[in-house]
Amino acid sequence: MISLIDLLYKNEDLEDNLLLELITHLDADTAPYLFEKALEKKSIFYKDTVYMRGLIEFTNYCKQNCNYCGIRGKNTTVDRYRLSKEAILNCCEEGYKLGYRTFVLQGGEDPFFTDEVLVDLIQTIKESYPDCAITLSVGERSYESYALLKQAGTDRYLLRHETATKSLYESLHPNMSFENRRNCLFTLKELGYQVGAGFMVGLPNQTPTDLVADLRFIKELEPEMIGIGPYIPHDETPLKGSKGGTVEETLVMVALARLLLPKALLPSTTAMGTLDPKGREKALKAGANVVMPNLSPTDVREKYELYKDKICTGDEAAHCRQCIEGRIKSAGFRVDMGRGDHASIHIPE
Ligand code: SAM
Ligand code: FES
Repeated sequence: MISLIDLLYKNEDLEDNLLLELITHLDADTAPYLFEKALEKKSIFYKDTVYMRGLIEFTNYCKQNCNYCGIRGKNTTVDRYRLSKEAILNCCEEGYKLGYRTFVLQGGEDPFFTDEVLVDLIQTIKESYPDCAITLSVGERSYESYALLKQAGTDRYLLRHETATKSLYESLHPNMSFENRRNCLFTLKELGYQVGAGFMVGLPNQTPTDLVADLRFIKELEPEMIGIGPYIPHDETPLKGSKGGTVEETLVMVALARLLLPKALLPSTTAMGTLDPKGREKALKAGANVVMPNLSPTDVREKYELYKDKICTGDEAAHCRQCIEGRIKSAGFRVDMGRGDHASIHIPE
């Protein structure tokens, strides 16, 4: 195991059969060495820095029906909301005062947010906060739409590929196309976005071979950001009662992603903190370098319930900021409130 980890560290790649061997044979004795090497690799480009992003969950309406997702359109028990332009701008204002220089606007695929509405929103945020980066995460859209949103000032786009195995993807996403998801990611790249792909760990019927496919896909796509989190079941979905992923197996994937794409911006996800009070700190120590505290108004937080027992739903933005900063520092890292672009990007002053 140790020699495989060293080989991966050195070459920043490993054949699929060796990745599979690592995933299936790592144990409590060898995994800490993998995490150590992933952290060492991260330090080369990002030192001890952890970037902060202000997350605004601005709509929980969704026309899609991902079988794992708590806010899927067919879940009639969800109390649906969408924030007004004014409410979103208030979140940005509060975030800016707290020091955030990246706003992540995330939501379901909500038809209310046409290109026209989103372009106006993005332009207004950019005019008010020209020194901030805007990340959008609103699912699959057309080439024209992504082009317009980029032109309006969007810097980054998060669209997890969810799983790189076609049959597994199709079993989880009714009426969605595996090819279209991937095409969207390549389109976003072509348009010059900093792109975030990513996947869930512990999906029902997911095998170690599927996880190798996920790693191979990110190695090929070379996204600037990689969101990796455990799948956590939600009772109001068709996957109710399934087992879900663990922190340990997710940490291994975070560390492997870091070693394959050393410059990636890798978030330590809320889902990790949900499964384990120290989950986010553990992810930082396994190579993650981004956290996304919530800036959404507290009265809508509980309504954006993707999975059960999601944490931080009652906390004010200022509290989240402070809490996470404390966690980052106690884990031995330094908080950076700057835009935090990918290491290959230089934004002129
Ligand atoms: N609609 C956008 C999209 O499809 O990219 C963004 C919102 S979507 C809720 C954000 C991410 O939440 C998904 O990419 C998925 O990986 C994650 N997610 C959804 N349900 C989850 C669950 N039950 N457990 C863990 N992560 C989940
Ligand atoms: Fe649309 Fe989850 S099914 S956000």
